[in-house]
Amino acid sequence: MSKLMRGKTVVITGATSGIGYYSALEIANLGAHVILVGRNSERGKSAVESITKESGNPEIEFIMGDVSTKKGVSQLADCIDQSVSKIDVLINNAGYLGNTLKYNKDGLEMHFAVNVVAPWNLAHALLPKLKSSLSPRVLNISGGDKPAAIVPTNLQAEKKFRGLMTYTHSKSILEGMSIALSKRLESENVSVNIVFPGRASTLMTQSLTTKGLPGPMKIMMPFFKLFFRRVARALTKPHNQRSSWQLIPHWRA
Ligand SMILES: NC(=O)c1ccc[n+]([C@@H]2O[C@H](COP(=O)([O-])OP(=O)(O)OC[C@H]3O[C@@H](n4cnc5c(N)ncnc54)[C@H](OP(=O)(O)O)[C@@H]3O)[C@@H](O)[C@H]2O)c1
Repeated sequence: MSKLMRGKTVVITGATSGIGYYSALEIANLGAHVILVGRNSERGKSAVESITKESGNPEIEFIMGDVSTKKGVSQLADCIDQSVSKIDVLINNAGYLGNTLKYNKDGLEMHFAVNVVAPWNLAHALLPKLKSSLSPRVLNISGGDKPAAIVPTNLQAEKKFRGLMTYTHSKSILEGMSIALSKRLESENVSVNIVFPGRASTLMTQSLTTKGLPGPMKIMMPFFKLFFRRVARALTKPHNQRSSWQLIPHWRA
């Protein structure tokens, strides 16, 4: 384990699997105190055990929380607030990709709620703890290198729900929101960054069905699955056998 991030506290949502899990592992390898967030205590416990074992870092914790509602975010922020004296990095990684139109308990469309509103609310709720760090950062995980144009009249799929396209649209809104957030938090010395993690075969991408693909894209379904399986195989190789295109997020201090 390196000491590069020793003394830093990193909160990462959606860290029980996929990109969040591997990011948490990389950060644990750098010696930071890492707080994993997810909705399921069993998955959380298992992620803590394997990250602790693989990194040799004993400072790995799990806090249960669901960011899909305003109340969930506020309860999560309270728990985090009670557990740490400061937060150096908040990574808003938990994301949502749905095949059908769905609303949360607050009446918000799910992609908009989880991918846009939650990162905004969590960053604000944790602001006092972020401000306790010398150089606090918020990282918002974007959806792709080819963002969709934002349609202001369709922010919550009011006009049309298009599965994967609605997801991509919500990630573009997240990028716009992140720019607004960075301006808002500039005077508080909190930097806000957008990160594209690359593509990987995860529970999220594997949950995509033809229902979630718009019209002509449906015929591309087998190619999607094939592409993501290829990436999945790459991720199972040890670090020293991965080539540079293989897309696992690496922490750069
Ligand atoms: N995979 C890709 O190719 C790709 C590409 C670009 C961007 N991304 C982005 O990367 C991020 C991670 O995606 P992934 O592909 O790694 O997905 P994933 O494997 O499905 O992981 C999602 C994680 O988020 C947690 N989670 C889901 N909903 C939550 C909620 N409401 N509250 C709290 N935690 C929640 C899940 O844990 P529990 O189920 O245990 O709660 C899980 O740990 C997302 O923001 C996604 O949009 C992914």
